Amino acid sequence: MSYDEFYVKSVIRSLHDWPEPGVIFRDVTPIFKDPKAMRMVSDAFIQRYLNSEITHIACVDARGFLFGAIMAHQLNLPLVLVRKKGKLPGETIHQEYELEYGKAAVEMQTDALSAGDKVLLFDDLIATGGTLLAACTLINKLGAEVVEAASLIDLPDLQGSTRIQELGIPVFTLLAYE
Ligand code: PRP
Ligand code: ADE
Repeated sequence: MSYDEFYVKSVIRSLHDWPEPGVIFRDVTPIFKDPKAMRMVSDAFIQRYLNSEITHIACVDARGFLFGAIMAHQLNLPLVLVRKKGKLPGETIHQEYELEYGKAAVEMQTDALSAGDKVLLFDDLIATGGTLLAACTLINKLGAEVVEAASLIDLPDLQGSTRIQELGIPVFTLLAYE
């Protein structure tokens, strides 16, 4: 199914002043309820990464999991999880970061990746870029390389995708809200 940005944008819901005053929350939940939108989005990502050098898909807790799992299945690649702190058993490393609203930390299991692994990193939305940058830090600490950071939505005014690209990590997003 060919990608139609106007259709996908029409499905995403914008909520003003949530979770706090001043934030316009871009709610991707309706995408998962709409098989046509979901297929458009996943097909567009699959098309981009078919026959690439990627060895692993990494995805970020929680909404990033929903895209990462589809990509890993479709590309037949291993999936590794970047979780919110305190959720993963065994030996882990963590990285703190600041969000558009508040602070958080992400965590990975130390055996998730190894030196030489080439990782495609997925989330649903890039705001300040703090989450994906923290995920990149963890992936690099495990010796692996982030080949690209991919997300459905970019909020360019918050400079997150620029921050990531300035570190030499390519960023691919399907749509932006200025
Ligand atoms: C949202 C979103 C991204 C992150 C983007 O997740 O899913 O992971 O914020 O913001 P940033 O670019 O400023 O870091 P959130 O932390 O709200 O968690 P959730 O996926 O569990 O809802
Ligand atoms: N995560 C951080 N900022 C967000 C926003 N404006 N909408 C949805 N998720 C977000």
